[in-house]
Amino acid sequence: MDAMTLARPHGKPLDRIMDVVRDDMAAVDAILTEQLNSSTDLIPKVAAHLIAAGGKRVRPVLTLASARLCGYEGYDAVRLAAAVEFIHTATLLHDDVVDGSATRRGRPAANRLWGNKPTILVGDFLFSRAFQLMVETGSVEVLRILSAASAIIAEGEVMQLATANNLATTEGDHLAVIRAKTAALFAAATEVGGALAGASPARIEGLRVYGDCLGIAFQLADDALDYAGEAGATGKDAGDDFREGKVTAPVLNAFASARDDAERAFWRRVIEKNDQEDGDLERAVDLMRRDGAVERTREQARAYGARAKAALDVFDPSSLRDDLRDLVAYVVDRDR
Ligand code: IPE
Ligand code: IPE
Ligand code: MG
Ligand code: MG
Repeated sequence: MDAMTLARPHGKPLDRIMDVVRDDMAAVDAILTEQLNSSTDLIPKVAAHLIAAGGKRVRPVLTLASARLCGYEGYDAVRLAAAVEFIHTATLLHDDVVDGSATRRGRPAANRLWGNKPTILVGDFLFSRAFQLMVETGSVEVLRILSAASAIIAEGEVMQLATANNLATTEGDHLAVIRAKTAALFAAATEVGGALAGASPARIEGLRVYGDCLGIAFQLADDALDYAGEAGATGKDAGDDFREGKVTAPVLNAFASARDDAERAFWRRVIEKNDQEDGDLERAVDLMRRDGAVERTREQARAYGARAKAALDVFDPSSLRDDLRDLVAYVVDRDR
């Protein structure tokens, strides 16, 4: 049945779009489980700990929906969606080591249970599995898109090391980091859907821009959640970014709104010197609330969301195009 002719189910945007690609997502989940096999027991153990915990699966849904929007219905979209989720999962394993995070998807992070060494190496294994799946599609174009994205994500994570603890980071520097570490995979996830379908260059570009802008909005919303979210919903510890002295959008907004030298000195101490005491996180949140720093971050996310929506103008109207547009509001206003 052509999903685009189905009546639009009710519910939240992610659930709605999930309904459209439900059968394919079940096949993606089957690959994610099967491809963990290894004669080295620790590999499926560490990987399944994270993969079985779920996660929102936003990126593979984007690949399936993008391919579908371009009229593609074959199995290679499932392989690519699984490859995209494997790349994402690998970056999460590595990221939690780099960030020293304790909680992921509501569970103790792999690095806390097994230590950094197995966590990094299993991340490498998942990256490799992703490339094996891409090769199965036989498409060099797909390999080009996803291998480029993998390199950019790594660059973004390294770039971020230089902006951490540095309040001289400009909005442009910060944008470059989040575009690389997060939006590159969103952009590749949507672009490969169009490439697989053999869509026109204009439509493939429209999907790439949609993914890029949606990914930037997604990360800005994530940065807002680090100060305004509930650990019960996000499955991550609130205040992780603060503890590390990470320079994210809410911090840049709050620092720019500081009213006097004492406030600027506070931000310098906690973020630049990373010298923090009990009550500092609460003070930071109070200052952000007073000056609307988190709300401004959400507005910045909304602005990228509007660009994401506009990028889909190259497609004819359809319920799936509407669902992809509705996903923008979900991404910006999400609580998990
Ligand atoms: C977490 O991504 C990493 C970021 C880019 C912020 P998600 O929020 O999509 O993580 P899961 O897959 O749902 O756990
Ligand atoms: C997100 O990194 C991007 C990658 C995982 C590559 P973050 O460090 O900002 O995300 P969370 O908060 O740990 O999910
Ligand atoms: Mg992190
Ligand atoms: Mg990080």
